[in-house]
Amino acid sequence: MSTMLKGRSLLTWLDYTVPEISALLDLAKQVKAERKSGAVFQRFAGKTLAMLFEKRSTRTRCAFETSFGEEGGYPVFLSTADIQLGSKESLEDTARVLGRMFSAIQFRGFKQETVETLAKYSGIPVYNGLTDEFHPTQALADVMTLEENCGLAQGKSLCYVGDGRNNVARSLMVISAKLGLHFTVICPPELKPDSVIWERCAPLAAASGAKIAVTDDIAAVAGADALYTDVWASMGEEDKQAERRRLLFPYQVNQALMDKTGRKDSIFLHCLPAVKGEEVTAEVIDGPQSRAWDQAENRKHTIKAIMLATLL
Ligand code: CP
Ligand code: NVA
Repeated sequence: MSTMLKGRSLLTWLDYTVPEISALLDLAKQVKAERKSGAVFQRFAGKTLAMLFEKRSTRTRCAFETSFGEEGGYPVFLSTADIQLGSKESLEDTARVLGRMFSAIQFRGFKQETVETLAKYSGIPVYNGLTDEFHPTQALADVMTLEENCGLAQGKSLCYVGDGRNNVARSLMVISAKLGLHFTVICPPELKPDSVIWERCAPLAAASGAKIAVTDDIAAVAGADALYTDVWASMGEEDKQAERRRLLFPYQVNQALMDKTGRKDSIFLHCLPAVKGEEVTAEVIDGPQSRAWDQAENRKHTIKAIMLATLL
């Protein structure tokens, strides 16, 4: 494992094969078991991680910072208030300098192009901790949580209900298409995933057997193993909040929608942070079918696994 992925960046799951994603999931399970056993390791001793944030974060920052630091690594948090990131100094030059001082870079921000440029010019592994286009580390934790509850992702069914254009929906579509997980986006026509991501995923789904669908009909949740939602307006889209409320209110995940799966064992997933009363009711996210808190914990185990695999 360590030699297979050593030196690799994670920008989107489009760049990873199915055996590579499966190996990362196995490693994340191992890391979780180690943590539960109380075992202590220092596998990142002598290594450094630059953590670049243009947008806010609770889970992603804490998962990277704690999992790297508790294994003896030295994480450095750098917000846009602290660092030149394309202003005053070119992004390429910042990447070159970070590449001389750090073992790896985590980037959260707006443009996917930024994380790609950092990877190209730094020469060290770069992890995409969320851009407007993708949120790959989230999707790995999501699959891990689904598998903990439902068994192997292949052949299971996941319905994403909400803004089908956003980073979380797009990353779920990619990882589902790769792993053979049936994936349905349920959203109003105005918020359908773009045709580019659809065209990238279609051949992957054909190869894995995943059925990928987009519909505006909430009845499509019938039989689903898991329902997933995310905020109606993502970071950077605050001005669209009123329009999204209007478009997405019929797509709120409430108990009536959970019941439409027709299965008592369907689980509810949310990447968090959640706006209770908008995309999901408190009854659902705080209720017995919710696995959102396990999912948040799994961010840490999956992120540690990605760093172990690419750095050691
Ligand atoms: N799910 C997620 O990425 O959470 P944060 O925005 O708090 O990092
Ligand atoms: N789609 C959300 C995800 C937050 C983790 C956003 O980009 O704000």
